[in-house]
Amino acid sequence: MSSKDEHGNLRETLESIRVEALEAIQEAEDAETLEKARVRFLGRNGLLSRALSGLRSVPAEERPEAGKTANQVKQTLETTLELRVDELAALLAPEESAGPDLTLPGRRQWRGGVHPVTAVIDEICEIFKELGFTRAAGPEVETDWHNFTALNIPLDHPAADMHDTFYLDEGLLLRTHTSPVQVRVMMEHEPPVRILAPGMVFRRDPYDASHAPAFEQVEGLAVDEGIDFIEFRAAIDYFVHRFFGPSTRTRFRPSYFPFTEPSAEVDVSCIICEGSGCAACKRTGWIEIMGSGMVNPAVFEAVGYDPERYTGYAFGMGPARIAMLRYRIPDIRLLYEADVGFLEQFA
Ligand code: PHE
Repeated sequence: MSSKDEHGNLRETLESIRVEALEAIQEAEDAETLEKARVRFLGRNGLLSRALSGLRSVPAEERPEAGKTANQVKQTLETTLELRVDELAALLAPEESAGPDLTLPGRRQWRGGVHPVTAVIDEICEIFKELGFTRAAGPEVETDWHNFTALNIPLDHPAADMHDTFYLDEGLLLRTHTSPVQVRVMMEHEPPVRILAPGMVFRRDPYDASHAPAFEQVEGLAVDEGIDFIEFRAAIDYFVHRFFGPSTRTRFRPSYFPFTEPSAEVDVSCIICEGSGCAACKRTGWIEIMGSGMVNPAVFEAVGYDPERYTGYAFGMGPARIAMLRYRIPDIRLLYEADVGFLEQFA
């Protein structure tokens, strides 16, 4: 036999091993038969390694080529065998190897939610909507005229001081309350006016458990012919009952704001102890929820309304404080820090 024949024989042998082995592997219906096929063709004394021992008699210059063919056959068989092992496993135990593993713990989905202060603002707006109020907005950077002067607060008045303002460029500041939105709305619209203006306000306050230098307010304003203190009280009572519950009592305490006359602080019976006295209400049984009053005629004059014809009431409340009360949040800073663990509770 010439050396060429040796090589030619080896190639034929490898080819017939390949064909036979593939058939045996594909036809194996259980692990045992498959293992037998593996031993027969790929085992240490199997047909393939026996055929490979014939490589030695192949001439040196043809050996690389013959070796390559042999390796290809070996790889094809090994890959096919692995695939068949998996196939059989899937066929024989489908619940273990196919589809998702139902015993794994679920992956948590991140659900977004409404911030508790936003939730309170929305609820306040919804309740006043029932009384005919719509939402209004104004800029956070205000003129000192809108923030103070038009509201009957002269710039050298202690009230301007009290607010301890962040002043910007000449005549501009970060609004210290949402009351300048009253001014903007009245300058744009003729009565009747019924608006709520939620928004951020800024004061040079410390940042501690009960203060923040930036916080939300909700402003309310109603102006029409014939609005009197009784209508004002009725509106506030309606809101308090709807928001805090029908058994909540309301108390008006005389107060002072330059833009309302008379002015009142509105207290509600403590929603935590129901008036018997606790830490939240400092043992008084009452909690202050807003500043308010009948619109001062000086404000009507500033915006060009006829103070002889129109009357109205205004109020301003802090929804962060109300959220703290309602959800028993002990520190206002929790509302302004992006602590997902905390905020998730409200999602
Ligand atoms: N603007 C006042 C404040 O920030 C609250 C207020 C609004 C009082 C409207 C009366 C009427 O303290």
